[in-house]
Amino acid sequence: MAISGGDIQQAKALLTSGRLVAIPTETVYGLAGNAFNSEAVATIFEVKNRPSFNPLITHVDSLDKARGYVATVHPLAQRLADTFWPGPLTLLLPKTDAVPDIVTAGSERVAVRVPQHSLTLSLLEQLDFPLAAPSANPFGYISPTTAAHVAQQLGNKLEYILDGGICPVGIESTIVGIEEDVVRVYRWGGVSLEDLKSVVPNVQAPINPDEESPPAPGMLKSHYAPTKQVVVGNLPELIQQYQHADVGVVSFRDVFPQIPDKQHVILSESGNLNEAAQRLFSALRELDQLPIELILAEFVPNHGLGRAINDRLARASA
Ligand code: TXA
Ligand code: MG
Repeated sequence: MAISGGDIQQAKALLTSGRLVAIPTETVYGLAGNAFNSEAVATIFEVKNRPSFNPLITHVDSLDKARGYVATVHPLAQRLADTFWPGPLTLLLPKTDAVPDIVTAGSERVAVRVPQHSLTLSLLEQLDFPLAAPSANPFGYISPTTAAHVAQQLGNKLEYILDGGICPVGIESTIVGIEEDVVRVYRWGGVSLEDLKSVVPNVQAPINPDEESPPAPGMLKSHYAPTKQVVVGNLPELIQQYQHADVGVVSFRDVFPQIPDKQHVILSESGNLNEAAQRLFSALRELDQLPIELILAEFVPNHGLGRAINDRLARASA
């Protein structure tokens, strides 16, 4: 069983010898290994039961360190990094041969991000390699936002979980690539469209995930999903429709007194989208563990972090 603690030296020792460590970030916990070590990276895929066509994000403590394994940094990427790093933004940059193909699933671009978490930043500063880290959950399931979430699902496959508390953003990073001077979004996350537009002129929204071949595997239509069926729609109508079933309810801010407290999570009573994002994954996890038949939820206002929340709800229900 994995030990959880705040020991950076232990994490460093394990990672340096090719083993995996779960790390906290501001978004979700990651399952980290040496990105330059193909065997360590292969173990990440194995532990997560993740298909090998789905590439991994590399984590470093600065853009300077990333320059050691990316070929070029487009001026727009530079501007985004200067503005949002450390923070919940992942940049797709042309890779060099230093990055094993297994990390990028054969793509010529590598995903790079500098996470905003003091514990993980100090760890990264002490390493002379980047950390490849997908979210620390079994493939397709909800991402973990506490060390306990990681322990519940991957505890028997890991030696150490670096415990950095509850992830303050709670939803994964926004992924962007630069194509012909346009910033193209591949996944909505902790940096909103409004944030991006405040620093770069042209931002293109993600392609519809319903398409046959998604441009990034993270755009898989069904993902981030609990075991129980999730139905997203108009909550008063859904609650009426499923009144004879035992349901869990995730509402944005409204209270539904007919639903028992334990089965009802309100994401933010004050209607704050950042708070809602932080609570979303634990809410789904909590309800998924109850003896209920299905989970009813509603979309939140589609601005700010609302886009990322709605994206995850849509995938959880697909
Ligand atoms: O916030 C986050 O991004 C968290 C923390 C741990 O950093 N990580 C995370 O990783 O969400 P993961 O593996 O669960 O999702 C990464 C997504 C995947 O959908 C993958 O397809 C996409 O990033 N991705 C990674 N490398 C890529 C590449 N070279 N080209 C296109 N998409 C890529
Ligand atoms: Mg993931």
